[in-house]
Amino acid sequence: MRRTKYLVLIAAFALSLLTTGCGENTEEIGIGPVKSVTLGPVDKNLADKGKEIFDAKCIACHKFDYKLVGPPLKDVTKRRKPEWIMNMILNPEQMTKENTAAKQLFGQYLTQMTFQNVTQDDARAVLEYFRMLDN
Ligand code: HEC
Repeated sequence: MRRTKYLVLIAAFALSLLTTGCGENTEEIGIGPVKSVTLGPVDKNLADKGKEIFDAKCIACHKFDYKLVGPPLKDVTKRRKPEWIMNMILNPEQMTKENTAAKQLFGQYLTQMTFQNVTQDDARAVLEYFRMLDN
């Protein structure tokens, strides 16, 4: 009986560690399909593909040096983790509801960024374009 109590306590403790750990992680990498991105040196071809996607699907709301409908994106790769950026592109509506940083942006810009029908590969290419610009 006593042993069971201990086990329950240990399990509860482990669970609390696990969930707080996940919570912090989610704040940094965001909420969405992207859990981890491996970065190498900037891939110019991929960045060029990213620029095409950006110019077609994002430029109406984003510039790099000044605010438009959305925040200026200069140095975004310095303020956010790559996973966070991709999750913001792929899952903006949940991000502005459940991720602290995205929620704050929404509070500031008062417009909901919408999903632009991009694939995960497209989002990765856009990330590469941002990395090239921020280098
Ligand atoms: C309808 C306008 C609109 C479109 C289109 C749009 N965004 Fe956004 N974006 C926003 C707004 C507004 C925010 C701030 C969060 C919010 O209010 O939803 C934002 C936030 C972001 C952020 C976070 C910026 C930061 O400072 O952390 C990134 C990155 C981003 N957008 C990338 C993109 C990319 C890439 C595309 C194209 C695939 C795109 N956005 C399309 C309006 C837009």
